[in-house]
Amino acid sequence: MELRGFLERLAREAGEMAMDYRSQLASLAVDFKTERDLVTEADTAIESFLVESILAEYPDHAIKGEETGEVAGSSVRWIIDPIDGTAAFVHNQPFFSISIAVEKKGKLALGAVCAPALGELYLAERGKGAFCNGRRLQASKTDRLDQAMMATGFACLRAGLEKNNLPIFTALVPQLRDVRRYGSAAIDLCYVAAGRLEGFWELNLNIYDVAAGFLMVQEAGGTYSDFSGGKENLYDEILASNGLLHPDLLAFFKKMK
Ligand code: 2AM
Ligand code: CA
Repeated sequence: MELRGFLERLAREAGEMAMDYRSQLASLAVDFKTERDLVTEADTAIESFLVESILAEYPDHAIKGEETGEVAGSSVRWIIDPIDGTAAFVHNQPFFSISIAVEKKGKLALGAVCAPALGELYLAERGKGAFCNGRRLQASKTDRLDQAMMATGFACLRAGLEKNNLPIFTALVPQLRDVRRYGSAAIDLCYVAAGRLEGFWELNLNIYDVAAGFLMVQEAGGTYSDFSGGKENLYDEILASNGLLHPDLLAFFKKMK
């Protein structure tokens, strides 16, 4: 099967699995420990489904998954996060997603983000654009920070990092129109691609949180980099924007260093 069609089908089916687990969460009124177990079960089951489906179709492909770690293989590598936005999932909120990217020879080639509770399936292919439910995406045209809506997150706090997002948050939010905190980096990046957000920043993420979203942003005409404008510290520092605001945002982060 053609890779793009296969990826799209996989993302959709994983989304349906996540919705099934979520309906159990909602009806059980479980205590926190049971909720965590259910989420772990959902994470593991979705990732196993993805890994097994990929290897059944493409036995030689490599895989990097949040739960599985690394499976060695050919120069095609799948990067998967079975549930991005776990906390939202536990709290029965809609901002969680399944994020799947495909790299060819180390370059992002395809990305899919399925946000089933939002009824949205995002798909990007290098050089061919980014789409949500088949509709082409374009990053926003806003070039003023005071008209910008940005998203961020606090993975750094859960990880107990000393150098965290709070000083950046305090300094940047007053310069913006407003800020959102959805809790799924993959969805945040899709929203930048869709022109719903002008930008997104966060610290201390992993490749599987952002790989598919990065391609989405790039294919929609936006930009992503680390806080210095390069790619060396990507994942420790993530800055994505509509492109037009990137210089102003990089100037801000330079001052913060
Ligand atoms: P997750 O839901 O799969 O854990 C939201 O701020 C983003 O940060 C999400 O993509 C979330 O992914 C990720 N995240 C939350 N806590 C984290 C931690 N301690 N380390 C790394 N990433 C984290
Ligand atoms: Ca994640």
